[in-house]
Amino acid sequence: MQTDSKIDILQHIPVGFIRTDHNCKILKINPKAKTYLSIDENDSLQGQRLTDYIDNMQVLNRLYSFVKNGWKNISIQDIKIEDKFLNIEGRVIGDSYIINITDNTITSQALDRATQSLLIGQENEKRRISREIHDGIGQAISTVRLHLDFLNSKIETNELKADISRISHMISDIASDLRSLSHDLMPSTLVDFGLITAVTTLIRRVNQSQSIYVHFENDLSDKDIEYNYALNIYRIIQELINNSIKHAECKEIKIRLKIIDKLIVLEVSDDGKGSSKSEKSNGIGLYNIKNRLASLNGELKITTAKHKGFKALIKIPFIRLKPDTQP
Ligand SMILES: Nc1ncnc2c1ncn2[C@@H]1O[C@H](COP(=O)(O)OP(=O)(O)O)[C@@H](O)[C@H]1O
Ligand SMILES: [Mg+2]
Repeated sequence: MQTDSKIDILQHIPVGFIRTDHNCKILKINPKAKTYLSIDENDSLQGQRLTDYIDNMQVLNRLYSFVKNGWKNISIQDIKIEDKFLNIEGRVIGDSYIINITDNTITSQALDRATQSLLIGQENEKRRISREIHDGIGQAISTVRLHLDFLNSKIETNELKADISRISHMISDIASDLRSLSHDLMPSTLVDFGLITAVTTLIRRVNQSQSIYVHFENDLSDKDIEYNYALNIYRIIQELINNSIKHAECKEIKIRLKIIDKLIVLEVSDDGKGSSKSEKSNGIGLYNIKNRLASLNGELKITTAKHKGFKALIKIPFIRLKPDTQP
């Protein structure tokens, strides 16, 4: 009777439960697990292999690999099946294998929303610090330099004059570093002119380094895109260019920005060393890009492989601002 009551519990718990033997044959599966894996509830599955019922390649590959490696523990977090984010965990108990599946959708979505709010907060803070540096410290240091130059004009000893002039140059370098820092935090060109001018300025700065060449193909004008879109697209382009510089060892980066069928289409690609699937899923940069896109209902598709370059294709539903340029 004790066994019966245990079975009853499994029928009702809000956790997927699967017990298999070491050949992956299902010994027991509860209704929740069937729902999570989109298996018909009337299918008894008794004696069938679990792997026959899983069409998510990532889960399937992990299952195969741990069967092959002698049944070690598995843990797959936040895997997306249909419209749910699932956590799948398994471990050996006695002569069978127990798999639990929990639905993490609400936590995952809440995390994405929290990240989006965090990104907005960070942008506000960046704008504040950028203004502080530009208008506060930046101005102050320029004034110091002016005073120093004035002082220098009064000095007659040549040796002292040369020393002060050297200090003045050092201050000028600091002022220029501060300007760059302020610009990285929040490009004034983006605020004052718009996306295209800001991206063009960013690209010019990269091309000045003369180690990587960035091409820019563009159909849009500054006024086409409102600030919130412009800021997010600018940050995405900035991250993708930085990634190519940091990770790709490439010679060229191509950026295309177009409007196709009421979508903003952005393509950023490089001719570098590419990336494997596992490498590219670890970073925070690409995760932030996805979150920025989620807030604009946009999507990201990455095409890359070892030695095959890296391409990010982004599509964002387009809200046209200027009626006179309506397609
Ligand atoms: N253009 C690229 N070429 C090669 N690998 C890349 C490229 N962009 C991203 N990657 C890979 O994807 C990973 C994740 O990128 P990202 O999320 O931006 O994180 P981070 O730049 O902080 O490492 C990188 O660590 C790198 O392995
Ligand atoms: Mg990055």
